Amino acid sequence: MALRSADEPAHLPVQVPLHTRPMGVWESFTTTQRNVLELIPEIATRQPIVSGRTVKRWHMVMDPGANRRILKDRLEIYPKSDVTKMILGPAIGQSLFIAEGAHWLWQRRAAAPAFSPRHVEALAPVMTAAAERAAERVSRVVGGVADLNAEMVATTFEVIADVTFSGDDAFDRAAVHRAIDGYIASTARVSFLDIVGAPPWVPRPSRLFSGGAMRQMKAMADRAIEHRRGAGARTVPDLLDLLLDAADPETGRKMTTEELRDNLLTFIVAGHETTALALSWALYLCAFDPAVQDRAAAEAAAALGGRAATVADLPALPYCRRIIDEALRLYPPAAFLSRTAIAEDQLCDREVRPGDTIMLPIYALHRNHLLWPDPHRFDPDRFADMKTVDRFAYLPFGGGPRICIGASFALQEAVIILATLLTRFRFMPVAGRRPDPVLILTLRPQGGVWLQVAGRGQ
Ligand code: HEM
Repeated sequence: MALRSADEPAHLPVQVPLHTRPMGVWESFTTTQRNVLELIPEIATRQPIVSGRTVKRWHMVMDPGANRRILKDRLEIYPKSDVTKMILGPAIGQSLFIAEGAHWLWQRRAAAPAFSPRHVEALAPVMTAAAERAAERVSRVVGGVADLNAEMVATTFEVIADVTFSGDDAFDRAAVHRAIDGYIASTARVSFLDIVGAPPWVPRPSRLFSGGAMRQMKAMADRAIEHRRGAGARTVPDLLDLLLDAADPETGRKMTTEELRDNLLTFIVAGHETTALALSWALYLCAFDPAVQDRAAAEAAAALGGRAATVADLPALPYCRRIIDEALRLYPPAAFLSRTAIAEDQLCDREVRPGDTIMLPIYALHRNHLLWPDPHRFDPDRFADMKTVDRFAYLPFGGGPRICIGASFALQEAVIILATLLTRFRFMPVAGRRPDPVLILTLRPQGGVWLQVAGRGQ
């Protein structure tokens, strides 16, 4: 029987109800329409690998050694599956996120310096300013309730818009935000056919996308890029300046306007909602466990005394960072990665054949009983010593050469915003409004993260 929210033990934060008996094709189909994560069998949280056949052969992998093989050692025989390409392709073209082989490699090499520690640190004032504005907005609801997920989506969008097309008049932030949200809402519902790897020409019920808004957004981004080429870089270069300057270190090749646009839109799509989710789930967890929240608030108060956090404060905020790490374990925004095997191989004790769908259900990996003690429990101190965490057992940002290029950007941003909010406010749950974890491209809190807000010291 599926574990329903109402049956969950009160000492554990919300979970996805995983099924404990085999599902037929029709049931799998209707389940994916609701929440892709409900496709994961409960046994995937107890075993290293689960294999099956639904239209095609598939394997769900929860084993660190096998993950290392797929993402790193034999990367070339496990390209990204058609699912990702079909969903994101119309929006972000052949950008870094989607490209394979040589076309991926040169873009990754060209973009890497833009995400070097020095450049990411230089972008921190944008994050501090967005944290300050978020805190101002939240201060207006003190004494009442607010959807902190909506707040965090607005905040991280400000950050990513400012570091991609900062202050460009040609770039209408609100229109881009609407176009991306509309695109995700209308097309990104991963269908069952996608998951089992049916070929792309099989019509998907949800693939009716709003071409108009997307075309307008691309045209706007192109205009902003052309405008910047003419105007030159700003004093503190943003991601657009850095990419305009970027070249493949081997060949010297630079990006065309179209390639620049696809990559900048990729940063917006890949970077804003995911970071907002890390923060939303972290705030939900803080409200769920007041002792954790008080400890983090005390740390933030000692470091900040009520002002907004800057990058220089990060070394004094290790517990806030652990809360983000643990939120990314329990609710990984990219909860389900998939690959297609293109050669024979072996994963754990299973034979892999060309064409097999390889699923990496990060949600189940992070809650696997073989890898994590008491895996459903919220405990930020699991991350007190990173050396004790197996690199390929914890994959919120993926792993190997295709690991998220924005990981340190996202972590820096999340800790700055979380600490700024916790030093000023106390968050409490609202009875009857628990967020439901649902995978729609990313792992979202369906219904929002509604919390009661009080000022600190009240
Ligand atoms: C908490 C926030 C974030 C999470 C959880 C996250 C997660 C991920 C994951 C799991 C992957 C690997 C996907 C795969 O292997 O199939 C990835 C790749 C990527 N992410 Fe992120 N991401 C986050 C923030 C960001 C930010 C802030 C940016 C950019 C500003 C970004 C840009 C990218 C790009 C360009 C790739 C593709 C890299 C490549 O294939 O070489 N992400 N992300």
